Order: sequence, then C-alpha cells, then structure tokens
Amino acid sequence: MIIITKGVAQLTEIKKGLQDVIALETRISCIDGEKGILKYRNFDINELVNLSYDSVSYLLLNGDIPNNTELDDFSSKLKNEREINENLIQTIKTCNFNIEAMDALRTAVSHMSHCDLDLNDISHDANIRKAIKLIARFPTIVASFSRIKTGYNPLSPDYNLSHGANFLYMLSGEKPDELEAKVMEKDLILTAEHELNASTFSSRVTASTLSDLHSAIISGLDTLKGPLHGGARMAVMNMLDEVSSSNDAEQYVMDLIQNNQKIMGFGHRVYKTYDPRSNIYKDLAKKLAENKGDSTLYNIAERIEDTVIQELVEKQNKPIYPNADFYSGVIYKYLGLHPKLATSVFAIGRVSGWIAHCLEQYSDNRLIRPRARSI
Ligand code: ACO
Repeated sequence: MIIITKGVAQLTEIKKGLQDVIALETRISCIDGEKGILKYRNFDINELVNLSYDSVSYLLLNGDIPNNTELDDFSSKLKNEREINENLIQTIKTCNFNIEAMDALRTAVSHMSHCDLDLNDISHDANIRKAIKLIARFPTIVASFSRIKTGYNPLSPDYNLSHGANFLYMLSGEKPDELEAKVMEKDLILTAEHELNASTFSSRVTASTLSDLHSAIISGLDTLKGPLHGGARMAVMNMLDEVSSSNDAEQYVMDLIQNNQKIMGFGHRVYKTYDPRSNIYKDLAKKLAENKGDSTLYNIAERIEDTVIQELVEKQNKPIYPNADFYSGVIYKYLGLHPKLATSVFAIGRVSGWIAHCLEQYSDNRLIRPRARSI
C-alpha cells in the first residue's frame, strides 16, 4: 500500500508476493476463492466448458458469447490462420531439442513479431488481427516442434477439426476419438483465463508500457513457464511417472511432506477450497481412464489427492487442494502428451486470456509501476 504525502511516496505495508493486493479492475474474469467459483465475463466455468474453444476465445476478446454467424466468422478466421510458413518451421528447427516446447514457442512468437507488418501498431484493430494469428498458430507451433523433435515432418492443420482436436491430430497424425477431442477442447477452455495470475500480470505490465502485443505475450510465456505457475503441469506428469502404483502413492506423498517439499499440482494463492477447474478435470480424467480400460494412473492420482487432503487439510488445517495443474497432468498422460509439451499446451489455451487482458489494458492504460522500500 502506498500513501502519497506532498509528492513523497511512503510505503506502508508490504504484501510479500503481492498477496491479496488489488492491482486493477477487470471485466474479463472473476474468482471467488472461498467458494471455489470461476467466471469468464460473468459466465460460470461449469457452463463455458460445454462450448467450443473458439466460442470461449471470442467471449474473452469481445465480451459476449458469439451468435452462430459471429462464431462461424471467428472460427473461419482462426482456421485460415492455423498454417505456419516454411520460414517459421526453419526457425523452430534451429531450437535445441532438449528444451521444453515453451522455449520454442517463445522463439516462434518472436519470429512472428519480425514478420508482422503492424508490429508496433497497438490499435484495437491491429491487435485483433494479431490475436487471430497468435491464437490460431500456437497449436501448430507446438505440434510442429514436437514432430520435428521426434523425427517427423510437421503436418498441415485439418480445417474440419476443432481447435483442440486439430492440435492432437497435428501432434500424432491420427484423428483423436470423440472423447479425446472433447477432453482437449475442454482443457483449452479451462486454461483460457484466470484473472490476474502471474503470467497475465506480466503481460499486462508489458502492455502498460505501450509495448506491442507480441512482446506482451512473450512476457506471459516466460512467466507461465515457472514450476510455481504453469510449469507445475509438467512437474505433475514427472511426479506421476515416479509412482508405480496407488499403494506407493501414499508413502510418496508422506515422504514429500516429511521433507518439507511441495506436492506439485496442489495449493493455490487464491482458492482456499477446491479449484472448480480441478473438479471438472478429475471427472474428465476418470472418463479417459474408463475409455482406455486402464484406471491405474487415475487411481494413483486419486490416492495422491486423498493423502494430501488427509495430511495437509485435515491434520494440518492448510487449504492445500488440487489445483488446475494436477488432474490436467493426468489427462495429458492419458492423451499421450510428452511432459515437455505440458506447459506449452497450457499456453495454447491461455493465450486468449492474455490477449483479452492486454486489450483491456491498452483501452484504459496507465503505466504499471509500483514502488519498493529501500533497505
Ligand atoms: N504442497 C505442500 N505444501 C504446500 C503446497 C503444496 N503444493 N502449497 C503450499 N503449501 C504450504 C506451504 O509449505 C506453506 O506452509 P507453511 O505456512 O507451513 O510454511 C503454506 O502452504 C503456504 O504456501 P505458500 O507457498 O506461501 O503459498 P502461496 O500462496 O505463495 O503459493 C502456490 C501458492 C505457489 C501455488 C503453492 O501452493 C505451490 O507452490 N504449489 C505447488 C506448485 C503448483 O502446483 N503451482 C500451480 C499453481 S496453479 C497455476 O499456476 C495454474
């Protein structure tokens, strides 16, 4: 909190990590962390998850759910921009293939900015044109990186498939079954937006300097990568690899707790109860397990969750519930995604939210510039 006295800033209370600090007003989403409610533009996430990613993306950018004509128009614009050109593929090929797809995605967005004739134009129209390209091409970039990394040629997008289904197709070359396609689409919707999380804040800070949209998105990518934020999804997948059965899961969690280590995919700065996305993810993970006729992984995850609730919530009275990264990590394993893709798949969903926040920031800008107390 800052009190200005005769032009001199006096810092009063410091909230470490800016916990609970209200930094700005937004119409894009709201969270009730006590009740476990999440809304994008006043629509509950439990309703939105039944729409398409294109609809939700439109909602975030434009403020309302599209009618059929608006949706057709928006979807066809996105589909027409899915393809990436040979130059961008060559840039992706220069990436070190031991890295996560996130690092390649950042390089690719930087490449896209060099090719953008409107690069420094931050008008609404220019930003919407850029938004369509960014949202449309994130899946193609990640899938191309993955295919090149595993010795295959990148695939062209399939225009008949949804945003999520096309991503799975471009990864493997096989069309996903109905459930897999639905789950991927829902994952992208659940990931699309989450108020003033760390990566969105980064994007808005960059936009507030009146830097360009690509730069703001690169800030978001770099912040999302960390294991306390979107990188937790990869950490969850790695954790699941270390536990071979649900019988081992309890001891695994107990060892982490005894060693004062965090259990990845649990805890949240805002939710003090179940994250509403986590409940949806859990249900989807169960459906995938049943569809595949193998619930081993799901049972391990559920045992991890039960042990965390028993040990941290019930015995230690800490609000450490599964967050959106826990059961999404389970889902990615059922979908056959490599852990090094996990955070970039998160970014494929979140880019719409970042852009919506940047548009909001540009539309009523003031430089975001807090103070520090010198010690
Ligand atoms: N496992 C065990 N203990 C935990 C966990 C966890 N996952 N998360 C928090 N705690 C404990 C801390 O040890 C601390 O205990 P103490 O008071 O006895 O020292 C207390 O809960 C508060 O933890 P902080 O880290 O201070 O809480 P903060 O609000 O800063 O952290 C965060 C939130 C970063 C998400 C944290 O819960 C965490 O590190 N979780 C694991 C990483 C993760 O899953 N990140 C994804 C977040 S969701 C997202 O970005 C999509």
